[in-house]
Amino acid sequence: MSHAAALSPLAARVGGPLKGRLRVPGDKSISHRALIFGALAVGETRISGLLEGDDVINTSKAMQALGAAVERTGEGLWRIHGVGVGGFRQPSGVLDFGNSATGCRLIMGAVAGCPVTATFDGDASLRKRPMKRILDPVALMGARATSMAEGGRLPVTIEGARDPIPIVYRTPVPSAQIKSAVLLAALAAPGATTVIETEASRDHTEKLLRHFGADVVVEPDGPHGRKITLKGEPELVTAPVVVPADPSSAAFPMVAALIVPGSEIVLTDVMTNPLRTGLITTLREMGADIETLNLRSDVGEEMADFRVRASSLRGVDVPAPRAPSMIDEYPILAVAAAFAEGTTRMRGLKELRVKESDRLAAVADGLRANGVAVEIEGDDLIVHGKGHAAGGGLVATHMDHRIAMAFLVMGLVSRKPVGVDDVGIIATSFPGYVAMMRELGAELA
Ligand code: S3P
Repeated sequence: MSHAAALSPLAARVGGPLKGRLRVPGDKSISHRALIFGALAVGETRISGLLEGDDVINTSKAMQALGAAVERTGEGLWRIHGVGVGGFRQPSGVLDFGNSATGCRLIMGAVAGCPVTATFDGDASLRKRPMKRILDPVALMGARATSMAEGGRLPVTIEGARDPIPIVYRTPVPSAQIKSAVLLAALAAPGATTVIETEASRDHTEKLLRHFGADVVVEPDGPHGRKITLKGEPELVTAPVVVPADPSSAAFPMVAALIVPGSEIVLTDVMTNPLRTGLITTLREMGADIETLNLRSDVGEEMADFRVRASSLRGVDVPAPRAPSMIDEYPILAVAAAFAEGTTRMRGLKELRVKESDRLAAVADGLRANGVAVEIEGDDLIVHGKGHAAGGGLVATHMDHRIAMAFLVMGLVSRKPVGVDDVGIIATSFPGYVAMMRELGAELA
């Protein structure tokens, strides 16, 4: 639907070291969820530190269209008057999620448990992404879903269940979005719904459900998995939500400081939920100097400040079970790997093919265009790092914010500048990225 705006290209080139302190915007996953749970709770929920990127703004508009009163009271400060579990009203128009699968898929789940009918749509990137992974479980719970495109893609209309059925569901791929959609639909179902995941994915939904007073039990299931059981029909009670800085956004200045010689930066208030910090584990294995300062957990999620110093990196093998804890970080890890000495093999990246772009292909193409040797073997990405790169390429972002941000970092250390064809898309997740990187000393023009 939306986002037909003209492309805005930008290039990054070598400059001085990066220096300074930086708080990146609020966590995207928690921001979406805070708005959704606020809309499903009774009374007023106050949120601080909300990410005000396009993706989250689309979620706020959808919550309004479904009957919640949403008000912005200051920078990152939002208030929501919720409608209560099962209380969504019939929206009058199509719900447009722009570029955001998280907003779209989670709200598909929430709508599936309410007696309303809503049509979901998005931009050209979101229209390519698989939705059957949500339509299948919500159909088991009694909702009726019709897709107007091949393979269950958007636009999709969901007729929510009048009497949602609790289910036991094993997610077919490790995905917090699938898990969350089922749990959101299950809120309005009588009795217990169980979601089993073979590999644990980010658990913000489970944590926020508890924060809002729902009964959720989480048990281990197999070596890497979890079993999550939610007791349906809770009264969600409002609770303030403080959103920490997004580790997936912090990843870009973090890697930039590691690879630009002489750099030293501090990233503040970064969420350190262990299901989100696979990148930091991997970078430390590569020899990165990342110091954790001031670890604290006063807001329901753990957070810390990180001091990051330029480091000599070496290639490593990144195991497949680590993928869910760093699923959005592979583009920037691949850039770090190009400037490491030796080969980095990133295993088990099948899900990268169905992100905002085919990220496996977009990363490999972007690196090759800038003189880095890369191979894709099955679901593995292999980057042959030489400690330097030629640069000089123009990278196609394919409406993918993380491709744009990652390759701008690459240009800061490549021999020739690296261009990206569009930086407008970065506003979906990290408004102010270019300004913040310039503030640290990055040469972007
Ligand atoms: C998200 C889950 C991940 C991630 C996305 C945000 C979430 O997607 O890639 O950026 O907030 O639940 P999957 O659950 O599809 O892996």
